Amino acid sequence: MQLADPALAEAVEDGLKRVEDLLHREVQGEYQFVTETALHLIDAGGKRFRPLFTLIAAHVGPHPERDDVITSAAVVELIHLATLYHDDVMDAATMRRGAQSANSRWDNSVAILTGDFLFAHASRLVAELGPDAVRIVAETFAELVTGQMRETRGPKESVDPVEHYLQVIDEKTGCLIATSGRYGGMFSGAAPEHVEALHRFGDVIGSAFQISDDIIDIASPSDDSGKTPGTDLREGVHTLPMLYALRDAGPDDMRLRDLLSRPLDDDGEVEEALTLLRSGEGLTRARETVAGYAERARHELDALPPCPAVDALRTLVDYTVDRTG
Ligand code: FPP
Ligand code: MG
Ligand code: MG
Repeated sequence: MQLADPALAEAVEDGLKRVEDLLHREVQGEYQFVTETALHLIDAGGKRFRPLFTLIAAHVGPHPERDDVITSAAVVELIHLATLYHDDVMDAATMRRGAQSANSRWDNSVAILTGDFLFAHASRLVAELGPDAVRIVAETFAELVTGQMRETRGPKESVDPVEHYLQVIDEKTGCLIATSGRYGGMFSGAAPEHVEALHRFGDVIGSAFQISDDIIDIASPSDDSGKTPGTDLREGVHTLPMLYALRDAGPDDMRLRDLLSRPLDDDGEVEEALTLLRSGEGLTRARETVAGYAERARHELDALPPCPAVDALRTLVDYTVDRTG
């Protein structure tokens, strides 16, 4: 993502390098194997969306260069990484960030323990930021796990599946991105009302980010996303484009209903479902929902003082809407 303001772009790039150094230093353990498994996903790259957002948000405050900003950006990335290790076990995913997932390269135990190791290090680091930061991350983590649990259990009969899905993504993705924005504002000394706006912005953009992720799982070839397309279909998870497709499916769409009614393990069936979903209206409607969230996110930015960081956050909204991987 290209930031328009050169001074901000340079400061953010410099900040991301400091975050990267800290991530590498933090996971050095005395047992080389766990360092290796932890570095596996760190070095696989990734968009660093959360630290990027923390660093840009920090430029809304007067002290964006403070060490605590960098530490908090590393904390959110470590938490995110920990959840990815666990998520790939639960989703039986084989690829992540263009590399083999840890569960497929090693096994489920290694992946779960590596997630725990990263979570332990996030906890160690966040302790340096004081009790408020610890409480915030604990609440965030509980919400994230709640979202994951809600997804695992699925919606009750009485609940609209689309509402259920939107709640899940708000919890499992929106909350950590909201905290990324809050930390950026908090540790750079931004005014409390600006910190709140950054939090709300993160919550909304986080949901948009997750829906675009789910669109990518259907719409993109794997070389763009670094994951295997159709992972959600294989896992039997109904994402927003599928829920819309099901809602709109007519009586002649029995095949789509059938394919979405169970986890798919046959490659041919996954391809067939992807083809049906790619040609249907579900993707279009999901893209419209992303656009709606983007509009809300832009509205939250109106509460912030005009500055290059807020312009960059507008760019972040455009990036979220337009991304393909
Ligand atoms: C990705 O969703 C998953 C999350 C954003 C949250 C997962 C949370 C957990 C697994 C709980 C973690 C618990 C501990 C102790 C670390 P996705 O599967 O839709 O996205 P993907 O396409 O990136 O796999
Ligand atoms: Mg997953
Ligand atoms: Mg998952």
